[in-house]
Amino acid sequence: MTREEKARCKEIIREAGRRLLAMHNLRIEEKTDFKNLVTSCDKETQDYLTTELAKVDPDATFLCEENNLYDITGEHMFIIDPIDGTSNFIHNYRLSAISVAYADHKDVLWGMIYNPYMDEFFEGELGQGAYLNGKPIHVRTQPLEQSLVLFGTSPYYKEWKEETFRLAAYMLDYCIDLRRSGSAALDYCYAACGRCGLFFEREMQAWDFAAGLRIVKEAGGIVLNYDHEEPDYTHKTSAVVGCPENVERFFELYRRFREENGEKA
Ligand code: IPD
Ligand code: CA
Ligand code: CA
Repeated sequence: MTREEKARCKEIIREAGRRLLAMHNLRIEEKTDFKNLVTSCDKETQDYLTTELAKVDPDATFLCEENNLYDITGEHMFIIDPIDGTSNFIHNYRLSAISVAYADHKDVLWGMIYNPYMDEFFEGELGQGAYLNGKPIHVRTQPLEQSLVLFGTSPYYKEWKEETFRLAAYMLDYCIDLRRSGSAALDYCYAACGRCGLFFEREMQAWDFAAGLRIVKEAGGIVLNYDHEEPDYTHKTSAVVGCPENVERFFELYRRFREENGEKA
Protein backbone atom coordinates (compact mmCIF):
# COMPACT_ATOMS: atom_id res chain seq x y z
CA MET A 1 0.00 0.00 0.00
CA THR A 2 1.38 3.42 -0.93
CA ARG A 3 1.54 6.44 1.41
CA GLU A 4 -1.35 8.00 -0.49
CA GLU A 5 -3.47 4.87 -0.14
CA LYS A 6 -2.75 4.72 3.57
CA ALA A 7 -3.70 8.39 3.91
CA ARG A 8 -6.97 7.61 2.14
CA CYS A 9 -7.66 4.79 4.66
CA LYS A 10 -7.15 7.32 7.43
CA GLU A 11 -9.67 9.72 5.86
CA ILE A 12 -12.17 6.88 5.51
CA ILE A 13 -11.84 5.94 9.20
CA ARG A 14 -12.22 9.57 10.31
CA GLU A 15 -15.27 9.95 8.10
CA ALA A 16 -16.73 6.72 9.55
CA GLY A 17 -16.30 8.30 13.00
CA ARG A 18 -18.07 11.50 11.96
CA ARG A 19 -20.94 9.48 10.51
CA LEU A 20 -21.17 7.37 13.65
CA LEU A 21 -21.69 10.42 15.85
CA ALA A 22 -24.40 11.71 13.51
CA MET A 23 -26.39 8.45 13.39
CA HIS A 24 -29.95 8.28 14.71
CA ASN A 25 -32.58 5.55 14.97
CA LEU A 26 -30.41 3.09 16.81
CA ARG A 27 -31.78 -0.45 16.45
CA ILE A 28 -30.38 -3.00 18.88
CA GLU A 29 -30.29 -6.77 18.38
CA GLU A 30 -29.00 -9.57 20.60
CA LYS A 31 -26.29 -11.73 19.04
CA THR A 32 -25.88 -14.61 21.50
CA ASP A 33 -27.61 -13.21 24.59
CA PHE A 34 -28.65 -9.98 26.30
CA LYS A 35 -25.02 -8.93 26.83
CA ASN A 36 -23.73 -9.51 23.34
CA LEU A 37 -25.39 -6.82 21.26
CA VAL A 38 -25.11 -5.37 17.81
CA THR A 39 -26.72 -2.15 16.61
CA SER A 40 -27.72 -0.83 13.23
CA CYS A 41 -24.80 1.60 13.65
CA ASP A 42 -22.24 -1.21 13.98
CA LYS A 43 -23.54 -2.68 10.73
CA GLU A 44 -23.76 0.62 8.86
CA THR A 45 -20.26 1.59 9.97
CA GLN A 46 -18.86 -1.76 8.92
CA ASP A 47 -20.60 -1.52 5.53
CA TYR A 48 -19.20 1.95 4.98
CA LEU A 49 -15.66 0.88 5.95
CA THR A 50 -15.63 -2.29 3.84
CA THR A 51 -17.07 -0.53 0.78
CA GLU A 52 -14.62 2.35 0.93
CA LEU A 53 -11.52 0.38 1.98
CA ALA A 54 -12.14 -2.15 -0.81
CA LYS A 55 -11.75 0.75 -3.25
CA VAL A 56 -8.28 1.43 -1.82
CA ASP A 57 -7.11 -2.21 -2.00
CA PRO A 58 -9.52 -4.22 -4.15
CA ASP A 59 -7.54 -7.45 -3.59
CA ALA A 60 -7.62 -7.34 0.21
CA THR A 61 -9.99 -9.64 2.10
CA PHE A 62 -11.93 -8.70 5.23
CA LEU A 63 -12.01 -10.11 8.73
CA CYS A 64 -14.77 -8.14 10.48
CA GLU A 65 -16.86 -8.54 13.60
CA GLU A 66 -20.32 -8.26 12.06
CA ASN A 67 -22.16 -10.29 9.38
CA ASN A 68 -19.77 -13.28 9.54
CA LEU A 69 -17.24 -11.54 7.33
CA TYR A 70 -14.25 -13.76 8.04
CA ASP A 71 -11.93 -14.15 5.09
CA ILE A 72 -8.19 -14.29 5.72
CA THR A 73 -7.29 -15.83 2.38
CA GLY A 74 -6.07 -12.65 0.66
CA GLU A 75 -2.43 -11.66 0.44
CA HIS A 76 -3.50 -8.66 2.49
CA MET A 77 -6.48 -8.27 4.80
CA PHE A 78 -8.31 -5.57 6.70
CA ILE A 79 -9.25 -6.58 10.26
CA ILE A 80 -12.12 -4.39 11.42
CA ASP A 81 -14.16 -3.72 14.51
CA PRO A 82 -16.67 -1.08 13.37
CA ILE A 83 -17.51 -0.13 16.95
CA ASP A 84 -15.33 -1.44 19.73
CA GLY A 85 -17.25 -0.67 22.88
CA THR A 86 -20.75 -1.34 21.57
CA SER A 87 -22.35 -1.39 25.03
CA ASN A 88 -20.65 1.95 25.80
CA PHE A 89 -22.01 3.26 22.51
CA ILE A 90 -25.57 2.16 23.32
CA HIS A 91 -25.39 3.89 26.69
CA ASN A 92 -23.73 7.05 25.35
CA TYR A 93 -20.75 6.36 27.61
CA ARG A 94 -18.56 8.08 25.00
CA LEU A 95 -15.74 5.56 25.11
CA SER A 96 -15.93 3.62 21.86
CA ALA A 97 -13.68 3.41 18.85
CA ILE A 98 -13.37 2.28 15.26
CA SER A 99 -10.50 -0.18 14.92
CA VAL A 100 -8.89 -1.08 11.59
CA ALA A 101 -5.74 -3.13 10.98
CA TYR A 102 -4.07 -3.88 7.66
CA ALA A 103 -2.15 -7.15 7.71
CA ASP A 104 -0.38 -9.70 5.60
CA HIS A 105 0.20 -13.31 6.61
CA LYS A 106 3.27 -12.49 8.66
CA ASP A 107 2.29 -9.40 10.58
CA VAL A 108 -0.05 -6.51 11.17
CA LEU A 109 1.43 -3.80 8.91
CA TRP A 110 -0.48 -0.90 10.39
CA GLY A 111 -3.25 -0.24 12.87
CA MET A 112 -5.57 2.77 13.25
CA ILE A 113 -7.99 3.31 16.14
CA TYR A 114 -10.24 6.35 16.23
CA ASN A 115 -12.32 7.54 19.17
CA PRO A 116 -14.63 10.08 17.53
CA TYR A 117 -16.01 11.39 20.85
CA MET A 118 -12.61 12.71 21.90
CA ASP A 119 -11.32 13.11 18.36
CA GLU A 120 -8.35 10.94 19.29
CA PHE A 121 -6.73 9.13 16.37
CA PHE A 122 -4.15 6.50 17.32
CA GLU A 123 -2.00 4.87 14.67
CA GLY A 124 1.09 2.74 14.31
CA GLU A 125 2.89 1.30 11.31
CA LEU A 126 5.51 -1.46 11.33
CA GLY A 127 8.90 0.17 11.93
CA GLN A 128 7.46 3.71 11.83
CA GLY A 129 6.46 4.41 15.45
CA ALA A 130 3.09 5.13 17.02
CA TYR A 131 1.19 8.41 17.12
CA LEU A 132 -1.79 10.07 18.74
CA ASN A 133 -3.16 12.86 16.56
CA GLY A 134 0.21 13.04 14.81
CA LYS A 135 2.38 13.20 17.96
CA PRO A 136 4.69 10.29 18.89
CA ILE A 137 3.53 8.14 21.82
CA HIS A 138 5.37 5.71 24.09
CA VAL A 139 4.39 3.10 26.63
CA ARG A 140 4.75 3.90 30.30
CA THR A 141 7.91 2.44 31.82
CA GLN A 142 7.23 3.28 35.47
CA PRO A 143 6.53 0.19 37.59
CA LEU A 144 2.98 -0.96 38.32
CA GLU A 145 3.18 0.50 41.83
CA GLN A 146 3.24 3.93 40.14
CA SER A 147 0.67 3.14 37.44
CA LEU A 148 -2.97 2.54 36.69
CA VAL A 149 -3.75 -0.97 35.47
CA LEU A 150 -6.58 -1.70 33.02
CA PHE A 151 -8.32 -5.01 32.67
CA GLY A 152 -11.09 -6.40 30.47
CA THR A 153 -13.87 -8.63 31.73
CA SER A 154 -14.22 -10.83 28.59
CA PRO A 155 -17.98 -10.27 28.97
CA TYR A 156 -18.96 -12.83 26.32
CA TYR A 157 -17.00 -15.68 27.92
CA LYS A 158 -18.56 -16.56 31.27
CA GLU A 159 -16.00 -19.29 31.86
CA TRP A 160 -13.35 -16.64 32.62
CA LYS A 161 -15.40 -14.52 35.03
CA GLU A 162 -14.12 -16.06 38.27
CA GLU A 163 -10.47 -16.00 37.31
CA THR A 164 -10.65 -12.49 35.87
CA PHE A 165 -12.13 -10.95 39.00
CA ARG A 166 -9.93 -12.87 41.44
CA LEU A 167 -6.88 -11.88 39.40
CA ALA A 168 -8.01 -8.24 39.25
CA ALA A 169 -8.44 -8.22 43.04
CA TYR A 170 -4.94 -9.67 43.39
CA MET A 171 -3.45 -7.06 41.03
CA LEU A 172 -5.10 -4.22 42.94
CA ASP A 173 -2.49 -4.68 45.69
CA TYR A 174 0.35 -4.05 43.22
CA CYS A 175 -0.81 -0.93 41.36
CA ILE A 176 -2.31 2.48 42.11
CA ASP A 177 -5.79 1.42 41.00
CA LEU A 178 -7.68 -0.58 38.38
CA ARG A 179 -9.86 0.63 35.49
CA ARG A 180 -12.32 -1.18 33.19
CA SER A 181 -13.09 0.89 30.08
CA GLY A 182 -15.41 -1.26 27.93
CA SER A 183 -13.24 -0.95 24.81
CA ALA A 184 -10.28 -3.26 24.38
CA ALA A 185 -9.07 -1.24 21.38
CA LEU A 186 -8.85 1.88 23.55
CA ASP A 187 -7.23 -0.12 26.36
CA TYR A 188 -4.42 -0.97 23.94
CA CYS A 189 -4.15 2.69 22.92
CA TYR A 190 -4.06 3.87 26.52
CA ALA A 191 -1.25 1.40 27.20
CA ALA A 192 0.52 2.66 24.05
CA CYS A 193 0.40 6.30 25.13
CA GLY A 194 1.26 5.69 28.79
CA ARG A 195 -2.10 6.44 30.40
CA CYS A 196 -1.75 3.08 32.13
CA GLY A 197 1.15 0.77 32.90
CA LEU A 198 -0.54 -2.49 31.93
CA PHE A 199 -3.67 -3.95 30.34
CA PHE A 200 -4.80 -7.56 30.58
CA GLU A 201 -7.84 -9.51 29.35
CA ARG A 202 -8.51 -13.25 29.25
CA GLU A 203 -10.20 -13.59 25.86
CA MET A 204 -10.86 -11.32 22.93
CA GLN A 205 -11.25 -11.61 19.18
CA ALA A 206 -8.86 -10.60 16.38
CA TRP A 207 -10.86 -7.44 15.57
CA ASP A 208 -10.63 -6.31 19.20
CA PHE A 209 -6.84 -6.18 19.19
CA ALA A 210 -5.12 -6.48 15.78
CA ALA A 211 -4.80 -2.70 15.29
CA GLY A 212 -3.93 -2.16 18.96
CA LEU A 213 -1.19 -4.77 18.77
CA ARG A 214 0.68 -2.81 16.10
CA ILE A 215 0.17 0.53 17.89
CA VAL A 216 1.48 -0.84 21.21
CA LYS A 217 4.51 -2.47 19.62
CA GLU A 218 5.41 0.70 17.75
CA ALA A 219 5.10 2.60 21.03
CA GLY A 220 7.81 0.38 22.55
CA GLY A 221 5.49 -2.12 24.21
CA ILE A 222 4.92 -5.84 23.91
CA VAL A 223 1.83 -8.04 23.75
CA LEU A 224 1.86 -11.64 24.99
CA ASN A 225 -0.92 -14.13 25.60
CA TYR A 226 -1.37 -15.77 29.01
CA ASP A 227 0.92 -18.61 27.84
CA HIS A 228 3.69 -16.04 27.41
CA GLU A 229 3.60 -16.32 23.62
CA GLU A 230 3.02 -13.84 20.80
CA PRO A 231 -0.71 -13.88 20.03
CA ASP A 232 -2.02 -14.89 16.61
CA TYR A 233 -3.67 -11.71 15.29
CA THR A 234 -6.18 -13.62 13.15
CA HIS A 235 -7.72 -15.59 16.03
CA LYS A 236 -9.08 -15.02 19.50
CA THR A 237 -6.55 -14.71 22.28
CA SER A 238 -5.76 -13.59 25.79
CA ALA A 239 -3.48 -10.58 26.13
CA VAL A 240 -1.08 -8.84 28.47
CA VAL A 241 -0.02 -5.44 27.19
CA GLY A 242 2.56 -2.91 28.35
CA CYS A 243 6.29 -2.19 28.47
CA PRO A 244 8.39 -5.40 28.64
CA GLU A 245 9.17 -4.97 32.37
CA ASN A 246 5.53 -4.54 33.37
CA VAL A 247 4.41 -7.47 31.22
CA GLU A 248 7.05 -9.65 32.93
CA ARG A 249 5.89 -8.34 36.31
CA PHE A 250 2.36 -9.44 35.37
CA PHE A 251 3.62 -12.98 34.73
CA GLU A 252 5.52 -13.05 38.00
CA LEU A 253 2.35 -12.00 39.85
CA TYR A 254 0.15 -14.32 37.76
CA ARG A 255 2.34 -17.32 38.66
CA ARG A 256 2.14 -16.42 42.35
CA PHE A 257 -1.61 -15.87 42.07
CA ARG A 258 -2.06 -19.32 40.54
CA GLU A 259 0.16 -21.00 43.12
CA GLU A 260 -1.70 -19.31 45.98
CA ASN A 261 -4.95 -20.51 44.42
CA GLY A 262 -3.70 -24.09 44.23
CA GLU A 263 -3.39 -24.05 40.45
CA LYS A 264 -0.38 -25.23 38.50
CA ALA A 265 2.08 -22.41 37.81
C1 IPD B 1 -15.66 -5.76 23.50
C2 IPD B 1 -14.95 -4.63 24.19
C3 IPD B 1 -14.71 -4.99 25.64
C4 IPD B 1 -13.94 -6.26 25.80
C5 IPD B 1 -14.55 -7.39 25.01
C6 IPD B 1 -14.80 -6.98 23.58
P1 IPD B 1 -17.33 -4.99 21.53
O1 IPD B 1 -15.87 -5.45 22.14
O2 IPD B 1 -13.71 -4.40 23.58
O3 IPD B 1 -13.95 -4.00 26.30
O4 IPD B 1 -13.90 -6.60 27.15
O5 IPD B 1 -13.66 -8.48 25.09
O6 IPD B 1 -15.42 -8.04 22.90
O7 IPD B 1 -18.22 -6.16 21.69
O8 IPD B 1 -17.76 -3.80 22.27
O9 IPD B 1 -16.97 -4.75 20.10
CA1 CA C 1 -14.74 -5.35 19.99
CA1 CA D 1 -17.63 -4.37 18.02
